[in-house]
Amino acid sequence: MADPVRVAALISGRGSNMEKLAEYKRIAQPSYEVVLVASNTPEARGLVLARRFGIQTWAQSHKGMEREAFDMGMSEALKAAGVEVVALAGYMRLLSAAFIREWEGRILNIHPSLLPSYKGLDTHRRALMGGEEYGGCSVHIVTEELDDGPVLARARVKIQARDTAESLAARVLEAEHKLYPQVLDAFCRKLRADGSAELPANN
Ligand code: GRF
Repeated sequence: MADPVRVAALISGRGSNMEKLAEYKRIAQPSYEVVLVASNTPEARGLVLARRFGIQTWAQSHKGMEREAFDMGMSEALKAAGVEVVALAGYMRLLSAAFIREWEGRILNIHPSLLPSYKGLDTHRRALMGGEEYGGCSVHIVTEELDDGPVLARARVKIQARDTAESLAARVLEAEHKLYPQVLDAFCRKLRADGSAELPANN
């Protein structure tokens, strides 16, 4: 197996998905390794977890900065760490078009709905209000449109009669924790197998 793909996880808070992505390297022949956890929120709880895992961290508040200037600074940090793939894991800030272009086709996100339904925030409450039979989560490639871009995989979670947004969110989060490492693994395996793992042109 070739060297694991170098992944950066971008977080803004709790970081439970990042934790599952990072734990994955304990399997035999991992296809990727989380080498950097970056955050726009220096007090994000997930950063503490990342340091405990011995993963390099980068954190800077975006406050008072132009979106693109902030993103370009973050992109420089990613490149300095030799990152090849970016995994958004509860990164609660829109990325600039410049950042997305720079990492085009290399940014994955996990979203807590069955895309293309319920893009944006408050997905579980909206799924309940919509009378859906299933909630769930999706992993997709990030493009300039919010929560758009090709869906790589989805996991359905049956909605139960007594579900609240909170109870549904908790079950969907369990599904996210299983789905995201699997999809990132498949994505990185393919990246290596296709021989298309070269870094973006300006790296
Ligand atoms: C998850 O529900 C994820 O789908 C969404 O933000 C939440 C992040 O949770 N994008 P965590 O920080 O990974 O625990």
